[in-house]
Amino acid sequence: MSKNLDLFSAPAQSEQAQAAIKIEALRQQINRWAHLYYVQDAPEVPDAEYDRVFRALQALEAQFPGLVTPESPTQRVGGAPRPELTPVRHAVPMLSIHTETDVSPAGAQAFDARVRRELGLAADAPPVAYVAELKFDGLAMTLRYEAGVLVQAATRGDGEVGEDVTHNIRTMRQIPLRLPSDVPPVLEVRGEVYMARADFENLNEAQRERGQKTFINPRNTAAGAVRQLDPAIAAQRPLKFFAYGLGEVTPVEQGGPDFATHFDLLQQLKQWGFPVAAQTTQALGASELVAFHERIAKERDQLPYDIDGVVYKVDALALQRQLGFKTREPRWAVAHKYPAQEMVTRIEGIDVQVGRTGKLTPVARLAPVFVGGVTVTNATLHNLFEIRKKGVRVGDQVIVRRAGDVIPEVVGVVPGARPSYVANFRMPTHCPICGSDVVREPGEANHRCTGGLFCPAQRKEALLHFAARRAMDIDGLGEKLVDQLVDGAVVHTLPDLYRIGLVGLLALERMGEKSAQNLLAALEKSKSTTLARFLFALGIRHVGEATAKDLARHFGSLDAILNATTDELLQVPDVGPVVAEAIHTFLAQPHNLEVVEQLRACGVHWPEGPPAERTTLPLAGQTVVLTGTLPTLTREDAKTMLEAAGAKVAGSVSKKTHYVVAGEDAGSKLAKAQELGVAVLDETGLMALLGKSA
Ligand code: IVH
Repeated sequence: MSKNLDLFSAPAQSEQAQAAIKIEALRQQINRWAHLYYVQDAPEVPDAEYDRVFRALQALEAQFPGLVTPESPTQRVGGAPRPELTPVRHAVPMLSIHTETDVSPAGAQAFDARVRRELGLAADAPPVAYVAELKFDGLAMTLRYEAGVLVQAATRGDGEVGEDVTHNIRTMRQIPLRLPSDVPPVLEVRGEVYMARADFENLNEAQRERGQKTFINPRNTAAGAVRQLDPAIAAQRPLKFFAYGLGEVTPVEQGGPDFATHFDLLQQLKQWGFPVAAQTTQALGASELVAFHERIAKERDQLPYDIDGVVYKVDALALQRQLGFKTREPRWAVAHKYPAQEMVTRIEGIDVQVGRTGKLTPVARLAPVFVGGVTVTNATLHNLFEIRKKGVRVGDQVIVRRAGDVIPEVVGVVPGARPSYVANFRMPTHCPICGSDVVREPGEANHRCTGGLFCPAQRKEALLHFAARRAMDIDGLGEKLVDQLVDGAVVHTLPDLYRIGLVGLLALERMGEKSAQNLLAALEKSKSTTLARFLFALGIRHVGEATAKDLARHFGSLDAILNATTDELLQVPDVGPVVAEAIHTFLAQPHNLEVVEQLRACGVHWPEGPPAERTTLPLAGQTVVLTGTLPTLTREDAKTMLEAAGAKVAGSVSKKTHYVVAGEDAGSKLAKAQELGVAVLDETGLMALLGKSA
């Protein structure tokens, strides 16, 4: 029966055999590129080329489903959620490391002395060779490869029995699903799964924006992701890996590898495609261990991930065997820690700070605490909703985290330690710096000061925005100069800019006659502007360049805008309730009006005209959104053509959008258009709309 079938399908089989060869070549190409991209951080081809080859592989696999194997790069996400995690008994137990009690750099000497004593070395014997590594603050993982294919990933558990988390680990781009052909038949690679600090911050930022609970620290987040039942969730968490050792490996007698040193072993792991930390180094004797400890202590804050210390390991594997184990810890390795990055302290008060963009940030005043290597007295609480969600109140014992350059933050309350009743924290209704109204827009987590260019806290930002090329275009007024002008109390408000004279400028440090003259000329030149630029320059929240143009075109004059009601503002194309409200609040602050008047008094002017009449351009009043890649037109071309026809090209899709022009790889904007029932055009449709046939 099967023979007959084989004969019958012979031609198809040869097609399949050809596909198999092609598929294998594509996989090798993709794996190589992915390794360069995810592990080496050195991409060799543009993303588009990678995507093209990836899609080619997907297409072939779809055509020949029988050729899909679990280690194909297309299969990283995909498994169904598990009902529970299954226990895995480790072939070789996963040990812990003894922690050196002396936290000073001299702790390394204590370890070296112990090693020398246990090896029976004489005082004048040569120094012992070590490998010095980072102690990553993540979770231990063992990766089992059989015949070079990843078959199982497991957590450490109690060291004897861990949990099978293969479905989640497979989604990690840094972990090879298949190894080169020179690996031993059985190979267990051990290392640490972690989350980089920036990835953790981004994740929390996104959680905050969505009003969802934030994660405590990268380690907990990584551990939570690894133990998810649904691989789709783990796949969304940016996890990374560093290899630092081996578990079970085919023995030498059966053709397994024979490493002389731990360092050689790490080099081989790197060769096989595993990330090994660049700081990992050989170190001779106690003095080089001490130097490593001191160097890493300095570099710690700049590392992209958390470490809680360093690890020293005897390099020669023969010596490791000689030293052996003490219960669950090897005698040949030690962990040498740094000050903790999380500590408990008490909140003594909550202040509110105003940032450069007007955002109000509640900041906890703390009983001083030594965390992450410095004494911390303040920690951010981010916003009101974070405070509510974490249940933080004055007097509470809280966990403070300070890692790297990230500002110290309160990550949680220690339960049960609250003193007698303390009131809930409230946001001030007026800016603590300038007294302007504080607002919070619906759906936003942050409160903001509406003072804008009047608020001293926002002054520098407001000045830079005002001077920007697309605003008043004041050539030469950059960050350094703005700092000098504001810090030197030369400029308080925007109109002050036009009041600085040559003498005032020359009084500034590092300001030569020529630069001063140039700046004055640039200021003078900027006075002659357009209403749209002026409106944009004021820095009204939500009033970007396009909205400013719309407002200018619609109303024609500044006074018409100043006198407009919210309803009238809503008549402007693309001005919705949020924007109208922002303009209204801005103009309701008397000091903002004063700034506007003073700028006019200083000679800032623009041509004014009557409100725009309905133009005769074919697409006047129509809003179009471009998304994806069009077959022949660049996005810039399409935009220019649309604008020339009177259309407005917007960045996001709303109910007011008339058309969405979608090209290849269009994403969420296309989905939104379909959801809202907005007309969707391709390039041909766009040309037809413009009255041009292809
Ligand atoms: S070696 C036999 N090296 O620290 C020694 N461990 O207490 C096995 N860790 O759970 C571990 N960085 O997750 C080793 N460079 C490193 C490490 C490291 C972090 C963790 C590991 C383990 C714990 C040991």
